[in-house]
Amino acid sequence: MRDGVLVEGAARRRFDLGTLRLDYYRDTGAAVDPELARRMATWGRGRADVTEDDDEDPVAIPDLWGLRDETYLTHAGTIRHVGPAALAIRQETQLLHASGLRVRPPRELAWALAMYLYAIEPPPARRVTDATAVARGASLFDEHCRSCHDGPILAGDPLPAAKVGTDPSLADGKARGTGRYRVTSLVRVADAAPYLHDGSVPTLAALLSTERSAPGHLFGTELAPEDRAALIAYLETL
Ligand code: HEC
Repeated sequence: MRDGVLVEGAARRRFDLGTLRLDYYRDTGAAVDPELARRMATWGRGRADVTEDDDEDPVAIPDLWGLRDETYLTHAGTIRHVGPAALAIRQETQLLHASGLRVRPPRELAWALAMYLYAIEPPPARRVTDATAVARGASLFDEHCRSCHDGPILAGDPLPAAKVGTDPSLADGKARGTGRYRVTSLVRVADAAPYLHDGSVPTLAALLSTERSAPGHLFGTELAPEDRAALIAYLETL
């Protein structure tokens, strides 16, 4: 819910799944592997680890709009999104796992879910306040960002993690690693904090800041302060 309105497909960035699951184990007395419990306690809000390996690599829960135009699924680009059938099969697998492999959902259900995800539209974009800054930001974006962030959702195919420079744990993950990170869609990016696959950067200003301590994705940090401000003004309109 945002301002009393349901925003379909928006990631629940304040939702703490790890704590919720730990509460469940505590209240029901159900068995949980202590190592898994320790890891779940570290996820925090808006992050979850959905891979089956023992790696420590929770990811930021992404918004679901724009999925139709993603060329790969998951932050590490684990699945090539060749068409709706690829997404439907993925839904089927997730439904199977959600029922502890007890129920194979009807194919129609997995297909319907994929069609629903395709139909989700983003909420309205923010209003432009400083048109001059936005225009300047748009041309800076074309110059410094569009080589990677392009097309209808300003995204792109996965790139080698070393080239992106962000924490490689997920890209190198044992179960589903590809060595790569998908170029994240920037549709409604102003409301998508925290940023990067691991949610390690709190704001757009921090992402473009020269003083950022978290490594990686240093694109744009070399720009002058007023150019970075213009870029942010533009990003806020996406
Ligand atoms: C060489 C390719 C490349 C360039 C150039 C590039 N990006 Fe990215 N961008 C990526 C990749 C890959 C990711 C995902 C990295 C990750 O999650 O570890 C990303 C993620 C982001 C995110 C995080 C989005 C989110 O929801 O988490 C933002 C914001 C962003 N880029 C903005 C920009 C801006 C602004 C520029 C230009 C100054 C830019 N990028 C230039 C490849 C690029």
